[in-house]
Amino acid sequence: MRPLQVACGCLALVALCLGGCAGRGRGVYVREGCAACHPFRGTGGGLAPDLSDVGSRLTASAIRAQIADPTAANPASRMPAFNRLSWFDLHSLAAYLGR
Ligand code: HEC
Repeated sequence: MRPLQVACGCLALVALCLGGCAGRGRGVYVREGCAACHPFRGTGGGLAPDLSDVGSRLTASAIRAQIADPTAANPASRMPAFNRLSWFDLHSLAAYLGR
C-alpha cells in the first residue's frame, strides 16, 4: 500500500510537470527574447537554428546546458549565456522546447 502511494505521488508530480512546466517555459521563452534569434514552430527570427525539433536532437540536460552556457558546447557560440536563470527556468524551457 505505502510504496504504491509513493509511486502514485511521483507519477502525479511528473504528470503535473509535463503539463505545467512546459506552459511555464513558454513564458520564460517569451520573457527572455529567445524568439529574436530562433525560429520555433513557425515564428521567430532566422539568425539561429530552428528549435522546433530540438527535443529530438538534444537531451533535456543538453538543452539546459546550452542555454546556461552556450560556449561549453561551442567555444565560438554567438548565443548569449542565460546563466542568471534559475534551474527551474532552465528546466521549464527544456520542457517547453522538448515537447
Ligand atoms: C543573439 C541570438 C540568440 C538568442 C537571443 C538565443 N539564442 Fe539560442 N542559439 C543561438 C545560436 C547562434 C545558436 C547556434 C549554436 C551556437 O552558436 O552555440 C543557438 C543554439 C541554441 C540551442 C541549441 C540548438 C541546436 O540545434 O543544437 C538551443 C537549445 C538554444 N539556442 C536555446 C535558446 C533559448 C531557450 C534562448 C532564450 C533563453 C536562446 N537560445 C536565445 C543564438 C541565440
